[in-house]
Amino acid sequence: MSHGRRIGRIKFIEPTPAVKERYFYRWNSKDLHFNPDVFPQLSGEGLFNSPSPINLEIGCGTGEYITGLAKSHPKENYVGIETSTRSVYFAIDLARKNRLENIRFIHGDFKLTYPLIPDNSIKTLILHFPDPNYGSKHIKHRIFDQNFLNKMNTAIISTGLISVVTDQKEFFFDMLEIAENDHRFTKTHTERFLDHYQSDVKSRFQLAWERINRPIYRFELTKS
Ligand SMILES: C[S@@+](CC[C@H](N)C(=O)[O-])C[C@H]1O[C@@H](n2cnc3c(N)ncnc32)[C@H](O)[C@@H]1O
Repeated sequence: MSHGRRIGRIKFIEPTPAVKERYFYRWNSKDLHFNPDVFPQLSGEGLFNSPSPINLEIGCGTGEYITGLAKSHPKENYVGIETSTRSVYFAIDLARKNRLENIRFIHGDFKLTYPLIPDNSIKTLILHFPDPNYGSKHIKHRIFDQNFLNKMNTAIISTGLISVVTDQKEFFFDMLEIAENDHRFTKTHTERFLDHYQSDVKSRFQLAWERINRPIYRFELTKS
């Protein structure tokens, strides 16, 4: 499990069975590890019965960002994956309140889902404010590493995007260097990195850091 950061205590409501049925998948780590075939594919086919590639947020937290996107783009399909039960229940309640049809949430560890992600199944991969996992004991929990780019090279479509945002400068440059050394990917911007993130919808972490004027770093990749 990752070494996480939290903003406040999350007040959540456990979804009813009907709401869970509509939005929720619980993928436990033991089965993901030893028996992944018991789960559907992490794709449009597997989760929406649709051939369209999905937009996936890793570590979606309380879901403000991904539910905001799903609301603004009803023809696209969105998936949030999150290891915290409290956060994912909060996110599901946002989806329910907004009567969204185009979103699903997986309670599970993204790093164990690679065997379930088919080629050309992801349109946008969102990694915003991931846990930095500093220290030798925790670094293996970082999501953005060489294995991640190897997987994304086949999983995202040719015009697909990977968006990375964080307030953690040292962690940001670690990820940026990994990206810059992988010539299968190119940045979508001419600047080495972006020092802001303008978007119509904002996550809990983005709003929190903006309130105290904490710098935010971003890069966006596409396939070369
Ligand atoms: C700092 S929070 C950011 C949440 C959200 N993206 C935002 O911007 O508000 C990072 C989230 O990633 C989740 N997380 C960490 N490792 C994960 C993993 N391997 N798979 C899925 N979620 C993970 C944590 O539980 C936490 O909710």
